[in-house]
Amino acid sequence: MAVERTLTILKPDCVKKNLIGEVTQRIQEAGFKIVAMKMTRLTKDTAGGFYAVHKERPFFGELVEFMSSGACVPMILEKENAIADFRKLIGATNPSEADAGTIRADFADSVGENIVHGSDSVENGKIEAAYFFAESDVVANNA
Ligand code: RTP
Ligand code: MG
Repeated sequence: MAVERTLTILKPDCVKKNLIGEVTQRIQEAGFKIVAMKMTRLTKDTAGGFYAVHKERPFFGELVEFMSSGACVPMILEKENAIADFRKLIGATNPSEADAGTIRADFADSVGENIVHGSDSVENGKIEAAYFFAESDVVANNA
């Protein structure tokens, strides 16, 4: 299986609920290597740009409000089969439909405030990683 990168964001609800440590621990225990990480706050423009694919959807306004409502923590993660494995670790978009033991099932309150983002393809993962990080921000993490 190929080593892939995925872009995650610990969303503003994760940060506000003081869950950065717990969620990051789950990610690391599942075998993902953090190769880039920072804390930042999105503006409405940058949140809207990140989720531009959803701009015609009815929930876009709420999504932009929420994603710009506080600090968030984007990270680039590396692992074999990272895209699919990370989506499995976080669970379905709606936490009430997420499998037991997934991050969203355990920590998320609603479909809108669902703790973490995960890239949905290798190609989008590259685009999303470049949205937050320069290639020079990525470090080899052999831990
Ligand atoms: P994400 O991109 O954040 O990892 O989430 P996802 O792939 O599981 O879901 P996606 O369809 O890409 O939707 C992006 C985010 O939009 C919000 N959303 N709200 N109110 C709604 O019906 C609704 N549907 C989606 C969620 O925050 C979702 O994570
Ligand atoms: Mg998505």
